[in-house]
Amino acid sequence: MATIQEVPQHVPAQLVYDFDYFLAPVGREHPQVEVARELYAKAPPIFYTPRNGGHWVIVRYDDALDVSKRYDLFSNATEFNEERKAYPRMPPIEYDPPEHTKFRKVLGPAFAPTAILNMSGDIRRLAVELIKAVSGSGRCEFVSEIARRFPVAIFMKMVDAPEEDREFLLSLAEKFLRAPLMADRKKAKTEMGNYLARLLDERAQNPGDDILSLIATAGLEDRDLTEEEKVGLATIVFFGGLDTVLATMSFIFHYLGKNPEQYSELVENPALIERGLEDLIRVHSTNCTSRGASHDFEYKGIQFKTGDQIMFLRPVIGIDGARTEESESVKFDRNSSTHLAFGAGVHRCIGSYLARIELRIFLEEWMRRIPEFRVDHVEMLGGIVWSPGTLRLSWNVANTSQ
Ligand code: HEM
Repeated sequence: MATIQEVPQHVPAQLVYDFDYFLAPVGREHPQVEVARELYAKAPPIFYTPRNGGHWVIVRYDDALDVSKRYDLFSNATEFNEERKAYPRMPPIEYDPPEHTKFRKVLGPAFAPTAILNMSGDIRRLAVELIKAVSGSGRCEFVSEIARRFPVAIFMKMVDAPEEDREFLLSLAEKFLRAPLMADRKKAKTEMGNYLARLLDERAQNPGDDILSLIATAGLEDRDLTEEEKVGLATIVFFGGLDTVLATMSFIFHYLGKNPEQYSELVENPALIERGLEDLIRVHSTNCTSRGASHDFEYKGIQFKTGDQIMFLRPVIGIDGARTEESESVKFDRNSSTHLAFGAGVHRCIGSYLARIELRIFLEEWMRRIPEFRVDHVEMLGGIVWSPGTLRLSWNVANTSQ
């Protein structure tokens, strides 16, 4: 369990609630719903926890939306975020506007819908390969056999990385996102940067049509990119797209395995996937990134001091009943499913279109081949991205098709 930090003097006792984002999902069946019930009943909407270095936590949709837009107060710059002070600094996520905007433009073409749609054939092939590898055995450990492999295979295709580096890349991503010690998380970021620096060097000499070549040869409107900026851009593309997809798809398959009537509904009527997927994403939001207070100020009656850390608890924010009716339930026929699983404001996820295509294609291909399955065992993990760490599924092989 994380040590308890002394509560700073500017934090009033009534705003303190003991909460550990590493431990909160552990041992739960549906962490988003169970933790939301607890926090909505017992904690203030914006509270301070003395765990994990001490930080503020936001659990309501409206607060999170507003804080996401107030980058004049709640900053992404490394100087206000201890966690981010490690090589390489990662644009665009570790900058505020106006710098942020220039860096984001560099990545724009690689994540535009046309670029992603061009990849959909490859994405489908990779999905089918992974599903066929397990369908005949009647069981799988979904996280290690599918969810760790699928987004990595897609990323590796996007950057044209050598196949033999897969396990190394995955282990670094997991360390970066889950290691309880900040020093280990920073070390993983630096190791990843060093690895990508070598690949970027190669692409600068010999560019192809992959995203690393785009970064290696890109510049800003008014100047060249520095080496560290190029490495940082490549590093965030890597970290942004791995664990988030892994976690979201594992949660969704856990849910569908536990709710066979809803899964059958999708199998019988695949047209429901489009809207259904959005509500599945809302109820299974995973990502808990933070901001740092850029100066001393008062916001919604709360005193913040320079460097205070403010975390968006998105897994819980998706369940906010003030935003969504019957917010704990997944419904395939909602007119719209508003959520902050992909963030909001200038840092809104640049990979959200890709992520949705990956999830939709994988689900379509799984449904075609495995029309019923059940959950045998699940273990939940906490951290910056909440996720099932183990998810054992099984099905009747006689019902499968190739
Ligand atoms: C289901 C999957 C995904 C989820 C839930 C997710 C979630 C998020 C969230 C919440 C943010 C905003 C963070 C903040 O404001 O602090 C974000 C930003 C970002 N995401 Fe994703 N993401 C996913 C998939 C991807 C993929 C597939 C990629 C790329 C391959 C990606 C790349 C990025 C990048 C580069 C940013 C930073 C954008 C900026 O600062 O302007 N994400 N993501």
